[in-house]
Amino acid sequence: MPVIAVIGTQWGDEGKGKIVDLLAEKARVVVRFSGGDNAGQTIVTPYGKFNLHLVPSGIFSSHTVCVIGNGVVINPAVFIDEINQLNERGVDTTRLFISDRAHLIMPYHILLDGLEEKARAGKAIGTTGKGIGPAFADKASRLGIRTGDLLDSAILMEKLRFILDYKNTILTKIYGVSPLSLDEVYSQYCQYGERLAPYIRETFIMLEEALNRKELILLESAQGTLLDPDFGTYPYTTSSSPLAGAGCLGSGLSPNRISRVLGVTKAYFTRVGSGPMPTELKDETGDLIRERGHEYGTTTGRPRRCGWFDAIGARFSTRINGFTGVAITRLDILDHLPRLKICIGYKLDGDIIAYFPSNVATLEKCQPVYEELPGWQAPTINVRQDEKLPTEARQYIARLEELISCPANLISVGARREQTILKTPIL
Ligand code: IMP
Repeated sequence: MPVIAVIGTQWGDEGKGKIVDLLAEKARVVVRFSGGDNAGQTIVTPYGKFNLHLVPSGIFSSHTVCVIGNGVVINPAVFIDEINQLNERGVDTTRLFISDRAHLIMPYHILLDGLEEKARAGKAIGTTGKGIGPAFADKASRLGIRTGDLLDSAILMEKLRFILDYKNTILTKIYGVSPLSLDEVYSQYCQYGERLAPYIRETFIMLEEALNRKELILLESAQGTLLDPDFGTYPYTTSSSPLAGAGCLGSGLSPNRISRVLGVTKAYFTRVGSGPMPTELKDETGDLIRERGHEYGTTTGRPRRCGWFDAIGARFSTRINGFTGVAITRLDILDHLPRLKICIGYKLDGDIIAYFPSNVATLEKCQPVYEELPGWQAPTINVRQDEKLPTEARQYIARLEELISCPANLISVGARREQTILKTPIL
């Protein structure tokens, strides 16, 4: 059986959670491979509506093993809260495992995220404030503490003593704030360790065994391609890679195992936080999309910036990830609009370009060149077959497929699992 990577095409919030939840019915393993609790997946399931930040979206399928891979940074308090909430509402979490190589978010990461943002003043990234950037920075600096370290209190103390001393110097000498207490952090993380211990495993072996049994594995990304630290709108990006290639690094699967890459894209674009967004609508249409689509961050509640579909950005994502198909989500949000626009190029210094520039200063100067299509002005939320969609909706989808050079496998017309049109097979 194959491995399908499910990847965000935009700046996150594309509806990956719903798609993974849907596909998880057929999968035996779902692995989250990047990000941390900066992610927020809203999923409507037979158990009700859930907001997941760390737990993979496959948790609602009773036969599916869920893995938080080594590429994720874990805030233990958030993880414990999430499993408590799932258990209280009848969702079984005994099939959930955490890689012993996943790094932990520590209290100083959260403090430093806020302090660094403040220090950037007008150039703030608009992070989620969850300590994600500082945690990944420590991973690269070899100053991280991993979930596996929680299983040995002597090792935890040894690492924490050295690292906290260094972090306290930064907190007090650079930012002028109070230091953190070694005893308090240590005892808090010992408690977390007790709670997390049953979940911590050498998880990549589990994936290898699943592949040997020919079981379907889903790789679940967090955030979206345009937030990738290398290929996104750097420095207005997140700090771990949400790309398909990172699916291998963040889970322990070898690259030749991925057989399909499914890009998830909204029928329009959104972005939360700072950084350029060429098709942003700062008008009534943008407001209408935001209100109809409830476009407010699951993690921070911030209003999302809304805009027309940017085919230049989406095609760039297709190339970087090698999408074999896309899932187009939230088509229903456009149901009432009389006319729709798709960005097919950028006007830059008098020329028209058809590529996504690598630096934000250039992207900021880009003006969208639009193509206009008629809207369908009819409800789609009850449509279940592609042929039953209004003609204009089918034309819109066909144009997106053509512009991004990728077939649509799925079309989502609502939050519930059944509000999905299976257009072409993924496998
Ligand atoms: P961080 O990941 O918290 O460091 O935030 C860096 C940037 O990524 C900010 O612009 C955030 O708004 C954005 N970001 C991080 N996670 C998500 C997400 O799950 N959806 C959308 N934007 C996100």
